[in-house]
Amino acid sequence: WGTDGHSIVCRIAQSRLSEAAADAVKQLLPKFAEDDLGSVCSWADQVKFRYRWSSALHFLNTPDTCTYQYQRDCKDEEGEKGRCVAGAINNYTSQLLSYNSSASKAEYNLTEALLFLSHFMGDIHQPLHVGFASDKGGNTIDVHWYTRKEVLHHVWDSNIIETAEERFYDSNVDAMIDAIQQNITTEWVDQVKRWETCSLNKTACPDIYASEGIKAACDWAYKGATEGSVLEDDYFLSRLPIVNWRLAQGGVRLAATLNRIFG
Ligand code: ADE
Ligand code: ZN
Ligand code: ZN
Repeated sequence: WGTDGHSIVCRIAQSRLSEAAADAVKQLLPKFAEDDLGSVCSWADQVKFRYRWSSALHFLNTPDTCTYQYQRDCKDEEGEKGRCVAGAINNYTSQLLSYNSSASKAEYNLTEALLFLSHFMGDIHQPLHVGFASDKGGNTIDVHWYTRKEVLHHVWDSNIIETAEERFYDSNVDAMIDAIQQNITTEWVDQVKRWETCSLNKTACPDIYASEGIKAACDWAYKGATEGSVLEDDYFLSRLPIVNWRLAQGGVRLAATLNRIFG
């Protein structure tokens, strides 16, 4: 996602934290965040160049089959296993679990671990961050977003969200967050319990999110959007509910994961 998508995920998450998790997050956030997780949720994008090793951790690529398998797909361009967004979520979750066990805590920078986990939980819910290797998650598919030239990947990172903010929320991201939160507590409440659930004895469940992601990429992102497509109201209005749904899932699951981590 772009800045707005990440900030939406993190602000939904912060509003759902348990007392223990809210305290831990407050302790770990850098001072400049002023206790607002949403304000630092794009930090991982800013350090992609300083921490070159981290740039492979924002996504994962699958073959063109609309399926995901950790063992097969979670690797970087050099083929190193575990270096993908699902592996990164597992890694930073296990680092943060040392917060309450002071022993191994000093080994890690838990502030960075929190900011990475919060960002990658957003990215794994962007359908094209779990896309085909053959088109780099839609980065090589040129389309028009209304009259603008864009790549399909960027349409899903930013354009759908920005167009929704302008058209429905008076260019106010807070109003869009309120609308998504409203859905979480009404229409979607029953499903929200299932979103929060992770397998027994597991703290994070990125493989579930990645499997949903490649299915959504095939059913909604790639469908009807090939090289040269002009994407306008038909595509925008039918895909916006999917974007809202994935942003909501990302926020709910980030909160659930932090609540499991910090108890
Ligand atoms: N680079 C290569 N594949 C990518 C993807 N799926 N998302 C973002 N960046 C990528
Ligand atoms: Zn992206
Ligand atoms: Zn990212």
